[in-house]
Formats: sequence, structure tokens, C-alpha cells
Amino acid sequence: MKAKSISFFILVLSIVFFFSSCSSDEVISLDSPDGRNHIVFILKDGVPYYRILREDRVVLDTSGLGFELKDMPALQGNFKMEKAVMSGKHERWETVWGQWNKIWDHHSQLIVTLKEQSDPKRTLELEFKAFDDGVAFRYSVPEQEGMTRLEIMKETTEFRFAEDFSAWWIPGDYDNHEFLYKNTPLSRIDSANTPLTMESADSLCLSIHEATLVNYPEMKLRRSPDEEQILLCDLVPWPDGVKAKVDIPFKTPWRTIQLADGAGKLIESTMILNLNEPSKIEDVSWIRPMKYIGIWWGMHIGKYTWAIGPKHGATTANAKAYIDFASDKGIPGVLVEGWNKEWENWVDGVQFPMTESYEDYNLEEVAAYAKSKGVYLIAHNETAGNAEWYEKEVDSAYALYQRRGIHAIKTGYVGKIRPLGQYHHGQWMVNHQAMIIEKAAQHQIMVDAHETVKATGLERTWPNFMSREWGRGNEYEAWSEGNPPDHTCILPFTRVLAGPLDFTPGIIGIYFKEYKPDYRIHTTLAKQLALMVVIYSPLQMAADLIENYKDHPAFKFIEDVPVDWDKTKVLNGKIGDYVTIARKKKDAWYIGSITDENAREFTFKLDFLDEKVNYQAVIYADGPNADWVSNPLDYVIEKKMVKKDDELVVKLAAGGGQAVVIKPVE
Ligand code: NOJ
Ligand code: CA
Repeated sequence: MKAKSISFFILVLSIVFFFSSCSSDEVISLDSPDGRNHIVFILKDGVPYYRILREDRVVLDTSGLGFELKDMPALQGNFKMEKAVMSGKHERWETVWGQWNKIWDHHSQLIVTLKEQSDPKRTLELEFKAFDDGVAFRYSVPEQEGMTRLEIMKETTEFRFAEDFSAWWIPGDYDNHEFLYKNTPLSRIDSANTPLTMESADSLCLSIHEATLVNYPEMKLRRSPDEEQILLCDLVPWPDGVKAKVDIPFKTPWRTIQLADGAGKLIESTMILNLNEPSKIEDVSWIRPMKYIGIWWGMHIGKYTWAIGPKHGATTANAKAYIDFASDKGIPGVLVEGWNKEWENWVDGVQFPMTESYEDYNLEEVAAYAKSKGVYLIAHNETAGNAEWYEKEVDSAYALYQRRGIHAIKTGYVGKIRPLGQYHHGQWMVNHQAMIIEKAAQHQIMVDAHETVKATGLERTWPNFMSREWGRGNEYEAWSEGNPPDHTCILPFTRVLAGPLDFTPGIIGIYFKEYKPDYRIHTTLAKQLALMVVIYSPLQMAADLIENYKDHPAFKFIEDVPVDWDKTKVLNGKIGDYVTIARKKKDAWYIGSITDENAREFTFKLDFLDEKVNYQAVIYADGPNADWVSNPLDYVIEKKMVKKDDELVVKLAAGGGQAVVIKPVE
């Protein structure tokens, strides 16, 4: 079958049930196309529930559904089932950028219509989808008489786990996602952010998250006071305690449960993207996945300052030096932080002007210079959490950037959100973020958002929403106890399942004693290269100072590595221990392999290569004496010829990594 002719719609089943009686309980099972995942809808005594199975094994036992509402009875029971419609889809769509250039959307679907049996006789719909890589459900409140708006006080969705899985989690904070992960039995979780990833002793892996977070707050998870293995949906509130304020009709985000045999398969899951709507941007020609360097790390380690002064990083001359380096080395983007006024006056509530440059930074000149060199200048908009002020600045700022040919911005929300009382992850900020992305699209601007709301696959709908931080990145190495070596061996199985992460890898200057003798990067040099492949971001920063890259042989890998892929394959992985990812671009493969504090050796079959083709592998490996604690700079570059039936032996030092480029040769 050719790609084009594959786009079709199969009605797997189209059964319509009509029920006149309300007395009987209802049970409907929706099966994934491969028949292995089942999400079961249950109506018992008028109360809706769901249950999830992987083959015969119960993963989530009978769990509650519904809402508590302000000034209205709860929408939770007294229902009869009016209708249940099953259908399915089997089609392939093309990504604008991503870990895959084409994605199969193959799932079955069930929509159940419930109606209250007595006044106020409201209607609630439950939508279920079953994929081979997981299951999902969401609530939908259709247009109906006597109800135009809802104030949701609580979403009573339960996750009643059938086993006490081993879980990797960070706290369910309403403002922050920049934590190190804990690994405990799930019964020890008091609150958690999603993606919350779990594993059974026999390697069944699952991850709880959400997709299409639009006009609704983020979902956190909180342990039920009644039972240790039940986590409850905990929505981030408005200042008045209401969780969500919505006009009817409305749909919640999808509640997602990714399921896989082994952790590596979780990384290959495309369910979150499949649950999102196709692109709303018609002309995507200006959207450019790219690597970037920047005047950034220098501020974190104290070489430069954001504010104007003798060490100011964002001067016209320095920006031009970064642009020259980028243009010489074929790095498409340059980020400049600390270019606009007010950094020296940063207090809670500061109003950063997004159009006014410091005296020693000529935006017009720098932007024109970047353009003349074929480099994308990335402007920085730190809001210090004052989103209310940013909304006043945004029109004039984006109009200015567009005039200057600036097609990318990085936003930031470090600090208490304004309007005061709002949280970073509440409905107000979700809507603020949506407005920013839409405005940016109107001005042909790509966005990389820091301290923002969680990734839920919206980049499919808004492919200018390139990346976000919303996680604990490399910056912590500059001013905290740092990221222990296992942190990056957890991120691909947790945070990155949600979407691209602006981790800012590629810092090969492991020590920066000249600036901060007490701090360092907690990896080997080769692992920083491998992270460029392992942690996916279509705006991928090579985060180090340009003087560390200049003339460094290892920088060749950073020059080479793409950020947009045709294919992604996980070669191995154990959460918190190690992971190896192979990605394909045109006819070349790039492999990134990383380990925690333990040295490891792996042998991989190169059977994903094409038959009868000779390839050259360039291997950027930990040196024979490398060790992240005592000898992190020891690395070797090796070249050899390989073929499809060869094996690749990967030796990783403690806290180490390996990056490999495999390209066909004549
Ligand atoms: C925190 C961001 O994560 C970082 O990238 C940025 O440099 C600082 N805030 C300043 O805006
Ligand atoms: Ca941050």
C-alpha cells in the first residue's frame, strides 16, 4: 500500500444501542486494534465507572468518574445509558516535525451518552479510545437545555491501580515541575505530577498523563485518603477555589494511560499526538526545527550578567560573535537573553518591557546581521511570572519581532503568577499559553516556553509550539546540587513522553572552575553529546559557551546531529538505569546511549540498516579511563565501516554515554 492511499477510515464496529429501561447495569468493553488493551465502561446503579485491562490482567480496577459542581448537584450518578456508539480509525498522517515523519492513528472508539433519570435530567457523554499503545477517555458535556455554563469544583476521576506498581514521580506541585524524580511503590505517593510512569515486576509499563489540555486546568494526582492504591484527579484551582469555568458544550482533556511491554516501548508510543487535532496553521513553511546556541549558559555560570554592566552578555558585539560562530558551523539559531531592560530591577511583579533594548544592544542591527548571515535570532521574553503584563506587551512585541525578521522566541515565567492568586498550571495560565501560541502563529513566530503548563501533544495542532522546559534541565548544574547521573535516565520515560523538552544539553565544558569552582556537570563529556539524540526537542540547544566548542573535535557531532527525524527506535532501556535511542534522518542513523552512575556494556544488532549498503560509523565514546566523577573529559572518536549484519558494541563509563553517526558511503 502506498502512503497516500493508506488514509482511510475503517468502521471497526458501528453498533448503536438504544436502551429504554434503566434498571439493568451496563458493561461495554472497547478493545484496541491488536486486541490486547481493553477499556471497559460500566454503569452500575446509575453510576459510571471504567476499568482497564491488558489482555486478562486488570491494570486499573473499577474506578469512578464524574464531577462536583458549584451551585448544582454533582454530575455523577442517577444515569441511564441512552446510546453507545462504537467506531474506529486507521489512517496515517504527516507530522510537520517530530520523532517520526508519519504516524499511524489506529484505534477503536466508544461514545456513551448518559442521561439523568430525574431532574435536572442533564446529559453527559463519555468518550473512550483504545490504541495498541494505550487507552484514553474524556468527558463531554453537549449543548442542552437549561445549562450554559459549569463551574467545576472537582473532577472525581479515580485511578484505582490493581497492583502496587513501582512508580517514578515528582510532587503534584501547582507551580513547578522542576524536580528530581523519586522511585517508590505507587502506594507511597502522596501527590504526583504527570506523566506518572510505573512498572510491574514483570515489565508491564504504564504512564498516566493527559492529552489536549485546552481551556481547563492541569490534572495532578493525589492519594485517596481511603485507599493507598487509589490516586485521585486533583485539578489546579482558581483563586476562588473553583477548578474550571467552562461554557457548554465542552470537552475535558483526554485522560491517558499508555501501556507497553517494557519501558522502551513507552517512548515509541504516539498516542498523545494521535489524541490531538491536526494542525491549525495552514502555511507551515516558516516553521523550522533547529539547533541553537546562545548567550545563556554564560549568565548561569556567572561569566556574564543578564543586566547591563561590565559583564553584560547581550551586547551587540557579543551577539554578532555568536551569530558568526553559528553561521560558520551551520547552527541555525542564536538565542540572546538579557537584551531587554529591567533585569537589574527584577523584583516580584516586575514589568519587563519586551520591545526596549539595553543601550549596548542594538536589536535592529543584530537582527539584520543575523539575517545577513542566514541565522535565526531567538528573542527572549522573561515575564518573571507577570503574565498579566505580558498580555499587554505581546501585540507590540510580536509585531516588532516580525518586522525584524525574528521567527522564534523563548518565554519564561520565573516567579509568582500575576494575576495574583493564579497558579502556573491553572486554567487561567493554560488559556494564557494558548493565546500566546496563537498570537505567535499569526506573527510567524515559533515558541520555546519555560516554566509553562505541561505538554499534552498540542504541538500537533500548533506546530509553532516547538518546545518547552517544564522539567528540570541542565541549568540546575550551574547553581544547585545538580542533576545526578540517573536523572537523564528517567526523563525519557516520564517527562519526555509528554512532548519535546528544552533540556539544553551539549555542555562539554564539564568544569567551569574559572567562574564557579564548586559546581560542575554530573556526566561525562560523551554523555552530553548522547543527550542531543536521547532527549527530543525540535529546538535543541547546544548549550555551552562558544569558546568551549571552538576547535573541539567533539563539536563535530553537534554540528552533524539533526533535530527532526523520519523514524525513532528505542534499542534498549530501563527506567532510571539506561536508555539507547536510534533515530533516522534520510539514509543516516544517529544513536544516543546513556547510563546512570553505573558503567555498562551493550551489544546491538544493526539490523535496522539497509541491506547491501556500506556505512561509516563515527563513534563518540567515553574514553577507556572515563568516569563521571574522576575523569569526565576522557573521550575517544573512532571511525569504522559497518553493515546491516554487524553488531555495535557500546561501552559506557559510569555516568557516561555514547553518540554514534552511521552514514552510507560510496
Ligand atoms: C529560567 C529558565 O529556565 C532559563 O533558561 C532562563 O535563562 C532563566 N530563567 C532566566 O530567564
Ligand atoms: Ca527553568
